Amino acid sequence: MSDPIRIGVLVSGTGSNLQSIIDHCETGKINASVVCVISNKAEAYALERARKHGIRALHVDNHAFHSRESFDAAVVALLLEHQVQLVALAGFNRIVSSVLLDAFPMAVMNIHPALLPAFPGSRAQRQALQYGVRISGCTVHFVDLGTDSGPIIIQAAVPAYDSDTEESLAARILAEEHKIYPKAIQLFAEGRLSIEGRKVHIKPPAEPTAAFLENPPANLR
Ligand code: GAR
Repeated sequence: MSDPIRIGVLVSGTGSNLQSIIDHCETGKINASVVCVISNKAEAYALERARKHGIRALHVDNHAFHSRESFDAAVVALLLEHQVQLVALAGFNRIVSSVLLDAFPMAVMNIHPALLPAFPGSRAQRQALQYGVRISGCTVHFVDLGTDSGPIIIQAAVPAYDSDTEESLAARILAEEHKIYPKAIQLFAEGRLSIEGRKVHIKPPAEPTAAFLENPPANLR
């Protein structure tokens, strides 16, 4: 198997998606390793999660920079220093600039708690409930210069019930986020993603290399 890809995760908050990515890496379910976690918020619990796993946890205070570009340049310098190959935004509450995107072409992903292109931006779950949708979900996408507008890699859907609150819908969506983000990262790690215009193409898996005990299988009818 090839070397695990090196992921840098950008966060601002709780970091449950970060935790899911770390767990998938540590159990070998994905061929990747989180090498640094960067937060614009010093108090983000995600930083604590990283430390617990011996991962470099870095705070870059956005208030210390006069522009979006200069903040992103400081983040890029740290990502390059850690030889990051994929940047994963996981609850990162900032719009990124071309400084980050140009440094990591086709290698910046984000997760959003809605079925894009519906309900981009903040408080997507609340937007969905206020609109009255019956189905919502989450989206992993490549990042472009727009807000939650980049090419879609994976989506998962969940029901939205009349009895839902913003919190109950968010929790149902989050459970799916924790599954699809690692899956998208694994597809990237296997080199199976390509982008054509707005569309992400997913190549079929390579032929299994392990020897078959029996092929065709015994239960073939
Ligand atoms: C997640 O629901 C993520 O999809 C959302 O923030 C939450 C972060 O949770 N991101 C956005 O809304 C970005 N527009 P986490 O910190 O527990 O991973």
